[in-house]
Amino acid sequence: MIATDDAIELEAERLLKALLHVDCDPRHRTWNLDTCRSIAPLTLEINRLKREKDAVILAHSYVEPEIIYGVADFRGDSYFLSMKAKEARAKVIVFAGVVFMAETAKILSPDATVLVPDRGSGCSLADSLTGAQLRQLKALYPDAAVVCYINSTADVKAESDVCVTSGNVYHIVEHLPQRRILFVPDRLMGQNLRDELKRRGVDKEIITSDGTCMVHDQFGPADIAAARAQFPGLKVVSHPECTPEVAAVSDFVGSTGAMMKFVRATAAPYYLMLTECGLVGRLQVEDPEKNFIGGCRLCPYMKLNSLEKIRDALRAPTPEQIVTLDEDIRRRAARCIERMFQLAPTD
Ligand code: 13P
Ligand code: SF4
Repeated sequence: MIATDDAIELEAERLLKALLHVDCDPRHRTWNLDTCRSIAPLTLEINRLKREKDAVILAHSYVEPEIIYGVADFRGDSYFLSMKAKEARAKVIVFAGVVFMAETAKILSPDATVLVPDRGSGCSLADSLTGAQLRQLKALYPDAAVVCYINSTADVKAESDVCVTSGNVYHIVEHLPQRRILFVPDRLMGQNLRDELKRRGVDKEIITSDGTCMVHDQFGPADIAAARAQFPGLKVVSHPECTPEVAAVSDFVGSTGAMMKFVRATAAPYYLMLTECGLVGRLQVEDPEKNFIGGCRLCPYMKLNSLEKIRDALRAPTPEQIVTLDEDIRRRAARCIERMFQLAPTD
């Protein structure tokens, strides 16, 4: 069905209202009525296909703003989106994020058809460790509780006792009965965890594997010192995938959801967001009066998502776009994620 000119104009106006303040755009677009007119036929078609196919779209805050504000039903961090995936009653879930997130949705909603717009949307953390490698590590530390960050494959989750996200890692590990923790696959988050537990006076031995996030491991304390010298009163807000040196000199460290909450709740003349640029785009939309200085970085995997790929997946998914999992792995991975839901703080 071809959208009428009137429908396109109305849709372009709706998009412009949401996207007007996005300045941190990965494709350096200026968000005006013409830009919105050019994407309106696509967002109209996707929103119609969602109704026809009984589909929901979950979007991580790092994907492009026209996905987040044009077609997503839910937007947020990994924890929020995994809860939405679990609660979803739709026949189809499209996950605009990366493959491990879509796998997590399939683990939690096995009866839904879960679609990933681009099968190449990996993650340097999830891709750093296989289930077989984790089995070898476990053999070296048989008494350790195995804790996996959600940025991991379904195989790794199936081998783990409990899953965590950036928003609940400190709380969950602090309350595990075991002293020895095998934490995979993020070495830097593991070091931040070690430091935070020490600050809390909690005695744990944290053993890690060697993955890092190729986006967050790029920030250094020198970037922060230079920014603070140039922008007095600056608040530095970082993600726990950053190095411990960055975490140590940040004003706040937390999940992308918690980073947004901190900015909303904290008055400051400027903010430096040490994370993926999509989060800055979201803040520019939702907190347009605040000033964000440059410094964020792009995740090439998150940026593989596009409206065209989402439309194509909804129209007729290719086999590559459909997430399938071995049922035994799915069931064991589900146990590890359900344990996270039981142990996560409630607020
Ligand atoms: P959040 O769960 O904090 O959104 O983190 C996901 C992620 O991939 C960060 O790089
Ligand atoms: Fe993975 Fe880093 Fe991209 Fe997040 S930002 S999806 S951790 S590569």
